[in-house]
Amino acid sequence: MLAGWLAGGVGIQSDGDHRLLPLNDLAPSDADAGFEGHTIVQRPSLERGPQHWRERLPPSLLTTLEPFLPAAHEVQGDVLLVKLEPEVEAHATAIAEAMLAQFSHVRVVCVDGGVTGPFRIRDLRVLAARGDDASTETTVREHGLDYTLDPATAYFSARLSREREAAMALIKAHQAHLGRRLVAHDPYAGVGPNLGLPLQAGAIEVAVVGDLNGQAIPYLRSNLSRIIAKSAHSEASLVVREGDGREWQHDSDLQRRADLLFVNLPHEGLDHLTDLIPLLANDALVLGWAVVDRHQEEIVVARVRAVFEAAGRQVDVDVRATKGFSTTRTMVRLVVRATTGS
Ligand SMILES: C[S@@+](CC[C@H](N)C(=O)[O-])C[C@H]1O[C@@H](n2cnc3c(N)ncnc32)[C@H](O)[C@@H]1O
Repeated sequence: MLAGWLAGGVGIQSDGDHRLLPLNDLAPSDADAGFEGHTIVQRPSLERGPQHWRERLPPSLLTTLEPFLPAAHEVQGDVLLVKLEPEVEAHATAIAEAMLAQFSHVRVVCVDGGVTGPFRIRDLRVLAARGDDASTETTVREHGLDYTLDPATAYFSARLSREREAAMALIKAHQAHLGRRLVAHDPYAGVGPNLGLPLQAGAIEVAVVGDLNGQAIPYLRSNLSRIIAKSAHSEASLVVREGDGREWQHDSDLQRRADLLFVNLPHEGLDHLTDLIPLLANDALVLGWAVVDRHQEEIVVARVRAVFEAAGRQVDVDVRATKGFSTTRTMVRLVVRATTGS
């Protein structure tokens, strides 16, 4: 009926039980001429506004910069992180203002210079802020849990969010297998997202977490304490350590205790395994993520198996690709069930 007569960019309105479809200038003004008994009413239009932040740039700028404008961005809480091509750097503030105007839930827009150094933190420069608060500290909600963090000082990425959800099934199965709550070690914990869900579900009795980055530690402690306080097992204990995860093996309080060990250091974690094995209890589950060359899963399995067997552990190793990382590299999930004869 409305072929060619619907006004673009104007919202549909409600009027009691009726829906009002916006008509353009091509539609006949006479209600009898093809509206099948529907009436025409006059209402002020609901303009939808620009559909994309680019439309908020001055038209001349949009034309010149179009090929270089960012096609993607990342949002952590109310902080938007965007990578910029050198060609648009001079107009970074205009781009940031357009983004702020477009995304009402964003408070701060930053240029993201990429992940740097061993702590894998972002090189950020604030471009524009809504109101007076230009801090990059923010709160990210993942699977219904809040993590406060500052992407400029501590690592966080939503990339492994699905993985953390998938890990829960393995953790619950291990808890059922052992018939008790778990002792969990997470030496590369960042701001704590690996243990959020298991703690909330009451699957953990003792969580030992740490990071080499001292600036991640206050976030790690407060995020996980808050989750424990509201969890199914608020008596769970939390131990927070700052320093190199490879040092934990020298602490007698930690040796042979971990029923569950996270190894979330995707670029070096495989090299750390030998130093982490002394932490494992007799019947342990190790969950790790590593970035490796594509289609190398079998090689990784053999390498991991060799490391554990050299330490006298029997293992069942599963390595599978989770998502592409680049054209030549991929992220793999590593699931190791390690037991000792004793
Ligand atoms: C890829 S991030 C993972 C963080 C967190 N598990 C997550 O998923 O958001 C790796 C973390 O390990 C920390 N790190 C790097 N080398 C370390 C080391 N030798 N010992 C302990 N932590 C380390 C970094 O600061 C970073 O927070």
